[in-house]
Amino acid sequence: MVSYWADGYLEKLCSGEKAIRHIKPGQRVFIGSSCGEPQHLVSILASNALKVTDIEVIRLMSLESTPLTMIANKEGVQSFDIRSFYLGSAKPRDIATNMRFLTPINVSAVPRLFKQRHLPIHVALIQVSPPDDFGWMSLGVSVDITLAAAQSADLVIAQVNPQMPRIIGRSFVHVNDVDLIVEHDEPVLTVDEPPYIESANMIGKLVARLIGDGSTIHIDPGAAPHALLLALSGKRDLGIHTEYLTDGIMRLVSEGVITNRAKGCKEGKLVASGAIGTQGLYDFLHDNPAIDFQPSDYVNAPSIIARHHNMISICVAEAMDLTGQVAADALRYNHFSGVAGMLDFIRGAAQSENGKSILMLPATSNQGQTSRIVPMIDDMAVVVPRGDVHYVVTEYGMVSLFGKSLQERAMAMISIAHPDFRNELFQKAKKMGLLSRSRELTEAMYGSIYPTKLESALDIDGETLTFRPAKPVDQRRIQEHFYNLDKSDVVSRFFHEKTCFLSKEVAEVSQIDYVKDLTVVALVGEIGFSSVVAVGEYLLEETQNIAEVAFSVSKQWQGKGLGRILIAKLAEAAHENGIAGLVAYTAPGNKGMISLFKTLPYKTTSSYDGDVVELRCMFSEPLD
Ligand SMILES: CC(C)(COP(=O)(O)OP(=O)(O)OC[C@H]1O[C@@H](n2cnc3c(N)ncnc32)[C@H](O)[C@@H]1OP(=O)(O)O)[C@@H](O)C(=O)NCCC(=O)NCCS
Repeated sequence: MVSYWADGYLEKLCSGEKAIRHIKPGQRVFIGSSCGEPQHLVSILASNALKVTDIEVIRLMSLESTPLTMIANKEGVQSFDIRSFYLGSAKPRDIATNMRFLTPINVSAVPRLFKQRHLPIHVALIQVSPPDDFGWMSLGVSVDITLAAAQSADLVIAQVNPQMPRIIGRSFVHVNDVDLIVEHDEPVLTVDEPPYIESANMIGKLVARLIGDGSTIHIDPGAAPHALLLALSGKRDLGIHTEYLTDGIMRLVSEGVITNRAKGCKEGKLVASGAIGTQGLYDFLHDNPAIDFQPSDYVNAPSIIARHHNMISICVAEAMDLTGQVAADALRYNHFSGVAGMLDFIRGAAQSENGKSILMLPATSNQGQTSRIVPMIDDMAVVVPRGDVHYVVTEYGMVSLFGKSLQERAMAMISIAHPDFRNELFQKAKKMGLLSRSRELTEAMYGSIYPTKLESALDIDGETLTFRPAKPVDQRRIQEHFYNLDKSDVVSRFFHEKTCFLSKEVAEVSQIDYVKDLTVVALVGEIGFSSVVAVGEYLLEETQNIAEVAFSVSKQWQGKGLGRILIAKLAEAAHENGIAGLVAYTAPGNKGMISLFKTLPYKTTSSYDGDVVELRCMFSEPLD
């Protein structure tokens, strides 16, 4: 006999205590995830701890509104065992380190684990919005693995909470498909926006440069991702396909930055499997037709992620080693970094057309006492193998490890470590055989202050050129630039027909102290694979306090203003570094160099000495 769902609703209605009494000893009980946790039901379960035995609590992650882990940890208590697919979310640090409860798995695979009953769920405790006119109740802020648990559990107990937003998508459970209903009105768990942290802010600004208009992004919740979202406010037509929606994402929607127009998959929709944020975010999500919540076996499936155009995965790492292996767990203020979803997104983004995967890594922990870049990960779990890592960003810069040798990786990772740890990492790398024993650590690597403010980008002839001070990792590409110079340009630059540009010599161009010697390069191409098309250098002559400058611009880029930009940056830096002026030596026939020097806004004097003309200017003598 077909019965009207509303009658069934009334029949299933009971008190929380009565519902929880249905849980039998030895059963596996699923609890809805993170902010979707049915707090009322969980608190009743905890208060019955002494009456239940051997309950296996299973969940994705929990805010521990009721500290079940603490109860499970009590000596002699046989009530609970916890199986968590992600532990890092627990607020107190001692709870977060309860490794033994963790089941390592990619989140995309968890629904299958439930549905195929490899891990049968006896009871699912879920929280839903009140039923609509057709009897559908929304799982609201937590669809993730909760939908699969609700669909496969033997007994479903639903806490109906009028404060749970009704969020659209594959997020609904029908009244007919639950067994017991407990009405309880309480605020849904919220999480405040992360605080301002300087290092997070610097990482956010660097990562923003890697994200082009029209990209679709997955972004972990957390401090650095939050800073990144703030830094994205100048972008256009971004799309969202992510695990959790946050307040930062909502803000970019209201600013018109996120339109979801260019995703290539579910266009016009913000796709996620849950939300973590403030009440303001939950109000925004309620009945919003632009939102499409989907379970984790869709959102986290690498094949689905790969379908998006310009898919960019942005995750937070806990630590990395010099070979590129990644450990991930909860960081302070990054409780929800998507450890269990990390590999899903990294692999999906890597397969997407023009996709990128980016790891954010604050350089230190423990108030700067400990480097998060370590020689080799040995006491933490590797979550991402070294072969899967592409971009890595700390507050000291960004590198790409994709396609890089172990030697290149070691140099790259050392270059973005906190300067205080670079020497130690360098020595360890040599010991481990990652770097040759003859290699020296120069001042640039020791951590002289890299002058970020000299960085800029410009579109010329349809290509984006990046101008920035050289880094030790540039050695090979500067060497390639010199080898590719036109023969006559080699003579103009080096005053003879030089045919060899030995690593040792080139190291002096790339490994600099940024004060007494500075090199600025112009690069084209993707970060990590770019080539150097122009080099401008200054070297201080200390007795006169004047810096000698020299330039080389690849033939096809000459006459396009690159030299002018380089000399302006060198002059600006030299002036700021207390140097009195610039000098250049060139052949009298080198019209290009003479004209270039004269672009400086200072009085220029020229003096001839045989085949060489000396060009000189003092910063104290500006042009009128
Ligand atoms: C000389 C050199 C560095 C100039 O760089 P560039 O990027 O081509 O120069 P820009 O496009 O920025 O031009 C700068 C100014 O010089 C002028 N200029 C450039 N090349 C010129 C040439 N061959 N003849 C006359 N003027 C020239 C430009 O018109 C511009 O002046 P403007 O702004 O008043 O119009 C570059 O040509 C080069 O690398 N040459 C080979 C190596 C060399 O000679 N190095 C210098 C010795 S250290």
